[in-house]
Parts: sequence; C-alpha cells; structure tokens
Amino acid sequence: MTLRCDQSPVWAELQAHFAASGRGFDIRDAFRADAGRFGALSFEAPEVFADLSKNRIDAPTLTLLLKLARDCGLEARRDALLRGDPVNHTEGRAVLHTALRAPASSGAPFNAEVQASLDAMLAFAEGVRRGDRGAITDVVHIGIGGSDLGPAMVVQALQAFGRRDLKLHFVSNVDGHDLAPVLAGLDAQHTLFVIASKTFTTQETLANAQAAKAWFLAAGGTDVARHFVATSSNTAAAAAFGIDTAFGFWDWVGGRYSLWSVIGLPIAIAVGAENFRALLAGAHAMDQHFATTPLERNLPVLLGLIDVWYRNFHGFTSRSVAPYHQGLRRLPAYLQQLEMESNGKGVDLDGNALSLGTSPVVWGEAGTNGQHAYFQMLHQGTDVIPVEFIAVKRPNFGVSGELADKLADQHRKLLANCLAQSQALMQGKTAAEALTEKAPTASATLDRDVLARHRSFPGNRPSTTLLLEALTPRSLGALIALYEHRVFVTGALWGINSFDQWGVELGKALCNQLLPRLASGDATGLDGSTAGLLKRLLAA
Ligand code: F6P
Repeated sequence: MTLRCDQSPVWAELQAHFAASGRGFDIRDAFRADAGRFGALSFEAPEVFADLSKNRIDAPTLTLLLKLARDCGLEARRDALLRGDPVNHTEGRAVLHTALRAPASSGAPFNAEVQASLDAMLAFAEGVRRGDRGAITDVVHIGIGGSDLGPAMVVQALQAFGRRDLKLHFVSNVDGHDLAPVLAGLDAQHTLFVIASKTFTTQETLANAQAAKAWFLAAGGTDVARHFVATSSNTAAAAAFGIDTAFGFWDWVGGRYSLWSVIGLPIAIAVGAENFRALLAGAHAMDQHFATTPLERNLPVLLGLIDVWYRNFHGFTSRSVAPYHQGLRRLPAYLQQLEMESNGKGVDLDGNALSLGTSPVVWGEAGTNGQHAYFQMLHQGTDVIPVEFIAVKRPNFGVSGELADKLADQHRKLLANCLAQSQALMQGKTAAEALTEKAPTASATLDRDVLARHRSFPGNRPSTTLLLEALTPRSLGALIALYEHRVFVTGALWGINSFDQWGVELGKALCNQLLPRLASGDATGLDGSTAGLLKRLLAA
C-alpha cells in the first residue's frame, strides 16, 4: 500500500518524538553522549562516503523515519519506478532514466533500444573527436533546463578528462548576451552546433538555433547539415528545422534526467566514449545500491528521510550545497532544477492540496567562495539552513613540478576549510567564550558584553559531508544518481508526482501572448503593472 507521509500513523509518532526530543536536539550533546556517533551515522555507497553525524538525528529518529518510509510503501514505489510503471501519471509516462545506464543484456526495460542509441551517439562523438566532420575545434551546445544544466555541469566537472584542442560552449538563455560572445570567438568551418531540446519546441533553444544558423551562413559556413546536429525526442521537428543528423530519445526520459541519454552528446564529445560509459557505470552502481540495499543503509533513502525531517518537522525551508571542488561549481544550479522542478509541487497524486511543505530552496556556490559571501548568514543568521558539503580527496590538476606541489598544498587548505566550516556550524561559540578572546579589529570603545554577543555563534547548525575519493566520470555518475534517487524518495513520501512540471507552463503561455504586444505596444486588457512596464519599455 502507498500512503502520503502525513496520512501515516507514524507521522503522529514522529510529531510526538519531535516535540519530546527533536526540537531541542543538540548535535554537540549527541557527540558528547556517544563516542561511536560518527561510525554509527556515516555510510558507504558506491563512490560516495557520507557523514550524516552532524545532523539533528539519532537512532530513535532514524528508526521512526524508516518506519514511516516502510509504512508509505517507499520500496514498492521505488520498484514501480525501476520497473517502468507509468509513475508520471499526469503525463501517462514511465520514468526510466535508470534504464539508460543499465549495462547491455541486463534485462532492464528498453535495453536493446537504449544500447543501440548509446552506441550510435558514442560513435558519432568519437567521429567528431577524430575529425570525421572536419577539424572541429569548438562545439556550441544550445539547449536549456534539462537540455543544458546536466551536460554543462558534467563537462565542467570533467574538464581534466577533456581535450584542450576541443572546446565546449553552452548557450541556453534567450538573451542574446549569451550567444553573441560565444559566436564572436569562433570560426564557422571549425564549429559544430548541437541543438538539444527534448520537445524541439522550446522558445529559447529554437531562437538561439535560428540565430546560430544565420551566423554560420553569414560567417562563410556552407554545409549546415555537416555542422548542425540535434538531440531530441521530436526528430521530425529537428528535420523540419533543417537538421539531417538527429539523435532521438524517448518520452520516458524526463528533461532533468536526460544527461544519460543522447542529450549527453556534448559530454561524450568532450571526454570520449570510454569516459561516458564510466559515467553511466557509476550511476548504475548507485542505482543498484538504491534498488537493493536495506533502507537502514540506503544512502538516497537516508538523505531523503533527513530532508523530510528538516522540512516538515524542523521547518527548514532551504538547503545549501557547498561543493569544495571548482569543477562542481555548477552543481547547485543543476540540483536546483533536479530538486525544485521535481518536488516544487502543491498537490498530491490525487490532486489534493498539500498542507505540508515540499521542496526546499536549494542553492549554493563552490567552496571556498561561498564562505566569503553568504556563510555569514549560515553561521549567525536567524534561519537554520542545513548545509551539504562535498569534498574530493584526491585532486587532479594535470600539472607537474613546483606548481603541482603548490596546488597540492592549496588542496589541503581547501579541505581544511571544508572541515572547518561544518565544525564551526556545529560547534558555535558562546558569548562567554567570545569574551575571553582578543579580536584585533573589534571596537575598543564598545561595551565588551555587547561585543561578545555580536561575536558569538549559536552552533548546532546541521550539515552533511559527502566525500569522493576523486572526481572521475564514475564517481560523478554515482553522485548525480544519488541526488536523483534522494529527490524521488522525498517526492514519494510527500505523495507527489516528481516527474511533471506544469508550473512552468503559465509563464510560457503569457510570454507568447505578450510577445506581439512588445512590437505593437498594445496594452489593452493587461493588469496595471504589466501595462505600465510595457509602456515604459517601449517609450521613446
Ligand atoms: O520549461 C521547463 C522545461 O520543460 C524543462 O523541464 C526542460 O528541461 C526544459 O524546459 C527544456 O525543454 P526541452 O528539452 O524540451 O527544450
């Protein structure tokens, strides 16, 4: 049986538990009381080690959360997802991104079609790398949302596996300030354009593709068919656009889950077929973990349960992601779509309005940069915002000699910063402690007690640390799949459809209605604000 989490009798048990010991839970006390806390609350999943011990949880809390998961039929919902049941019920579709990374002959749904599509895409990517389409030095990938964020994030993260003589550019915004500077540096004869759109109807992508084609012809390009390819589930529309080479995929691949499909073409061009297969293999290893590991040690499940605990009991409305690896600087943006487009929903599967909170705001920045921007708020602000640190043990700078030594030292500094931040968030500092310290930059005239209060930290601020041995195609694949499954877990408990995105439609429709008014200036029937803004934009 599947139940929405707040309909389960365990919900009331959790509420009572929260009132009794959850609300006042102090992570510092928990460490003092239990020398084995780190061991008990750290977990191994493929390629990812997770320290959950700096969270406001303990064994009784986890026991109840796991009971909730079982009571809500989480395992049955997971199995239905992996089997290919139409879990995206508002669009009548299966959701099978896991099938895209299942090995050949694994018996996974659509295995033969998936392998054929993968082989064709990888052969094309290798051909581009070999020079089959001429000496391509630059690939411009045009797509938005799920047809951009995943490939852009992965290509950046795996830069060490790329080639210096083959540059990847990502253009997504309908704002011409995105496309113009990219085209400015390019030679049409040496450029390949990949137009990526699941639907091939997306305004931004089609506008950029048209502009790119016009630029290509004006810049002396002659062979559009050779320099433009498409990745889409609507290959007919791509053909109508004038693109001969189109790699298709299926409606059961959601946009934000599509980097594993032909939408991953720019990744394959950047890092090659073998590395792309390693990315898939890492994700598949995490899929296996999710599918078979008991819930008590199942990392996506545990992370999802803590998310529910924080969102619905503690009332935390946001979560910050801090990857301490410059290559992962686009991960927060990628996760924003993955999590907020999936779980930013207000009704359950039956269309009933929810009275519990769903997706938190997910945001962040690479460490250490974030420390010098918004960490002030994380440490001393009035909101408690759980932080997710991601650290990578072994760097890969691709340099040698003295520079390598210097950068190795910088890596130790990076890791020390990462550890220090989660330590500081938890530890805090009392005003009494602050009073005993000398602060060289502090006012000499301000009352010492007042100053100490300004210099104190509440502490007890929760964080999770995820550790990767190295940032490789395999570990990155596993990390992304971990997040995908965690988002599924929270969505399943909240009883929502994590796989549709109707919330983006209204703005698109209104944009289409406003577009002609930006030419005509006709403001008839518009609300006062929109009419006023339109007039101001069009004023001479
Ligand atoms: O507007 C939201 C959205 O539909 C996303 O879900 C999707 O990833 C993105 O637009 C791009 O869509 P497409 O790949 O069809 O161009």
